[in-house]
Amino acid sequence: MKKKKLTIHWPNNLITIAEEGEDWFLKAQMANLEIPTGCLFGSCGACEIDVNGETVRPCIKNIEYKNNDLLNIEFTSDPFW
Ligand code: FES
Repeated sequence: MKKKKLTIHWPNNLITIAEEGEDWFLKAQMANLEIPTGCLFGSCGACEIDVNGETVRPCIKNIEYKNNDLLNIEFTSDPFW
């Protein structure tokens, strides 16, 4: 099955195109953004971003299609970090 092409709208208003399964960190880099990291195995939450309002941990989840070709990204900011 052909992978879906998705449009990613980043907080700095840049747009990148991605396919399902691609790496969030790489695509953020292409938009001149850096997703913060900590543990890199899903436990600390440092890398969390909001994808169309849903919190995702990019270190354990690649880009996925969920009934919307446009992914609006917000960086979460945790006041305790
Ligand atoms: S870097 Fe720790 S949860 Fe992603």
